Amino acid sequence: MSEPAPTKRLFIKTYGCQMNVYDSERMADVLSPLGYAMTQTPEGADLVVLNTCHIREKATEKVYSELGRLKEMREEALAQGGARMTIAVAGCVAQAEGEEIMRRQPAVDLVVGPQAYHQLPELIARSHRARGERLSANFAPEEKFDVLAPTARRPTGVTAFLTVQEGCDKFCTFCVVPYTRGGEYSRPAEAILAEARELAAKGVREVTLLGQNVNAYAGEGGLAALVRRLAKIEGLDRIRYTTSHPRDMDDALIAAHGDLAELMPYLHLPVQSGSDRILKAMNRAHTAESYLRLIEKIRRVRPDIAVSGDFIVGFPGERDSDFEATLSLIREVGYATAFSFKYSRRPGTPAAAMPGQVAEVVKDERLARLNVLLDEQARAFNAAQVGRTLPVLFERKGRHPGQLVGRSPYLQAVHALAPDRMIGQIVPVRIEEAARMSLSGVLAQELEPA
Ligand code: SAH
Ligand code: SF4
Ligand code: F3S
Repeated sequence: MSEPAPTKRLFIKTYGCQMNVYDSERMADVLSPLGYAMTQTPEGADLVVLNTCHIREKATEKVYSELGRLKEMREEALAQGGARMTIAVAGCVAQAEGEEIMRRQPAVDLVVGPQAYHQLPELIARSHRARGERLSANFAPEEKFDVLAPTARRPTGVTAFLTVQEGCDKFCTFCVVPYTRGGEYSRPAEAILAEARELAAKGVREVTLLGQNVNAYAGEGGLAALVRRLAKIEGLDRIRYTTSHPRDMDDALIAAHGDLAELMPYLHLPVQSGSDRILKAMNRAHTAESYLRLIEKIRRVRPDIAVSGDFIVGFPGERDSDFEATLSLIREVGYATAFSFKYSRRPGTPAAAMPGQVAEVVKDERLARLNVLLDEQARAFNAAQVGRTLPVLFERKGRHPGQLVGRSPYLQAVHALAPDRMIGQIVPVRIEEAARMSLSGVLAQELEPA
């Protein structure tokens, strides 16, 4: 069956985490048979989808200011006799706020939650017909993945995301994800393997398995078994996964880091705080000590692993001493990279109602101190690669002529002069320089001995 030539322009703006990046691609996949082709700007688009994030207040507010801009753009276009742009809100704000979005911004034509993207064509048609019922936000993830067939994937490069798990049952007291993405759901292994084979056949060499709690993957044998099966796929040379929860980091997965060459030495394992008192109030189910022991265990099998994490400063009740405990945990771990956030009070979450909300200036100050330390560690981790020869998967052209950009096993961006034909190849690069965010080097003959 041949598809119609693209006649409509689709612009998707993605906020938030990688799960949203994956979902945006899949939305483009479902809309493509209807004649929608992606464009790079909202100007002149027939359909604009904002794939939103609800995690912090700022993320949510950005959506409303963008909607305001789109409304003006549409009015201008209409005044000049252009076609009417359809405005859709998808993602976690859609799930969390539903119809409320249309009350705040009536220019919105439809709202679609993260588990209902397979209904997009129908919702668009319905909105065109009547602008009647405009919300679809049910939780039935199996249906979503059934309809988004693996064969429909159109990877745009040599790396790709692959969602294997969605949702969260952990209910950390600060977090909206259990409310926006629903309970934990794991896709069947066969469906994941089929999608991965499809990606590999289309030139993808590296997949990043995604889940809000990816290591809680509940298929037989857990994430470790899944990773081992994926590693056997011809052409798929690198496997990553994110985000992990310390509670679900089992021995089988740790062992895989020790003996599976395809599993990259990078682990995003958010701790949030180094204070047990705060961790308890956060409902994190781990202590600073148990987290440190876990990192130790992983480093025993894979000493060079790049550890990454997330931190929240200014959680309700956080005292100076709690914050100091976080700094000292960071010193003990030595992070390759990390993400740090000021606590954001999210409506409906238990922490929002807790006493001892921390003043904004205190949060600012703590965040700044935290970032100085994390920055030092990131620089040190990168600087330690200078002189080494690392396998780099080249992904695309760089900014300078003749230059390619790829990734080291540790997920660092690596720049090197290399011919275009090396895009999609894993090539030894001798690292000569390190910066805060990236490395640069020269092509080498062979890798250093393991
Ligand atoms: N499931 C992952 C994290 C998903 S959310 C985990 O448990 O590790 C990504 C990050 O956003 C979290 O790790 C946390 O650091 C941050 N975050 C979540 N809710 C937040 C809030 N209310 N305020 C500030 N940061 C928050
Ligand atoms: Fe949010 Fe906690 Fe679930 Fe992570 S584990 S998504 S921080 S509730
Ligand atoms: Fe944001 Fe939803 Fe991801 S709230 S971080 S887009 S799961």
